[in-house]
Amino acid sequence: MHQSHAHQASRLQLNSQGDLKHFLSTEGLSREILTAILDRADSFLDGNGGIRNEPLLAGRTVMNLFFEPSTRTRTTFEVAAKRLSADVLNIDISKSSTSKGETLRDMLWNLEAMTADIFVVRHGASGAAHFVASQVTPRIAIINAGDGRHAHPTQAMLDMLTIRRHAGDFAGLTVAIIGDIRHSRVARSEIHALQTLGAKEIRVIGPRTLLPRDFEELGVSVFEDLGAGLKDVDVAIALRVQNERMESALLPGSSEFYSMYGLTRERLKVAKPNVLVMHPGPINRGVEIESELADGPQSLILKQVNYGIAVRMAVLAMAMDGQDADRAAEVAR
Ligand code: CP
Repeated sequence: MHQSHAHQASRLQLNSQGDLKHFLSTEGLSREILTAILDRADSFLDGNGGIRNEPLLAGRTVMNLFFEPSTRTRTTFEVAAKRLSADVLNIDISKSSTSKGETLRDMLWNLEAMTADIFVVRHGASGAAHFVASQVTPRIAIINAGDGRHAHPTQAMLDMLTIRRHAGDFAGLTVAIIGDIRHSRVARSEIHALQTLGAKEIRVIGPRTLLPRDFEELGVSVFEDLGAGLKDVDVAIALRVQNERMESALLPGSSEFYSMYGLTRERLKVAKPNVLVMHPGPINRGVEIESELADGPQSLILKQVNYGIAVRMAVLAMAMDGQDADRAAEVAR
């Protein structure tokens, strides 16, 4: 990773003590911070498939600003905030005054005046969460819930939690990410997190048209052949084919994609015997993944969703702590 880029990526996210105050990207964050997120998330899991309630954000207001559709992320942020006893508002962007010409900046300032403490932002434009963080009062924490092709850091961290809980230490693991890498904010955030957490090998597998040129520079192994890429992997993560982000036809069709890159039980026979199967969702059955595999014993797809609540609780609580510590330090000066 380019050092100054990583430095810039971390600078805005950390407070004066080096703790998280916004969560915009996994890029540039230290292993200590990523591990602290995983440990904090683990502490919210009760060991019986349940998630503990902890009133750490009582009296705080979390506003979900989703400019793009979402099922898993928006809902699990809402559940996470409620488990922390925060008040949660889901702003209906389609009914907001942005449709009457109000700018995003004005909308944010008005929501700030309604005593927001945390904005959770999903937007189709890469960099939108950084823009929001640069526009609002410093005391408000910004959590990136997915911006364009750039980053989806809470998805990456819930995937890291899933891997750590089910496969163990990252140092021994070969992880393959398969499919539409080029348009995937999830792949970018996962690669930064896996590298920082010390994964043994990271592979990306897909057709040339869906593999970005800069990925080899990131230190990942690139495969166009699915069988070669899956050999001896510990974890296989299938990605959704993002037709909505393709400017031109980069794929011949979904059945051709499935015939070459669809993840199936048969194709996984070259992987390690206990290979874990993951997908961030939403899944397209029979396009990226075989239905029986998605619903089978190796699949952790619904566990990922469940762990997403704990990871989002961790990030909300840590970012609010980071903001509070910054404010306390300012008052003490
Ligand atoms: N994985 C994910 O971001 O899903 P949603 O689009 O449903 O939030």
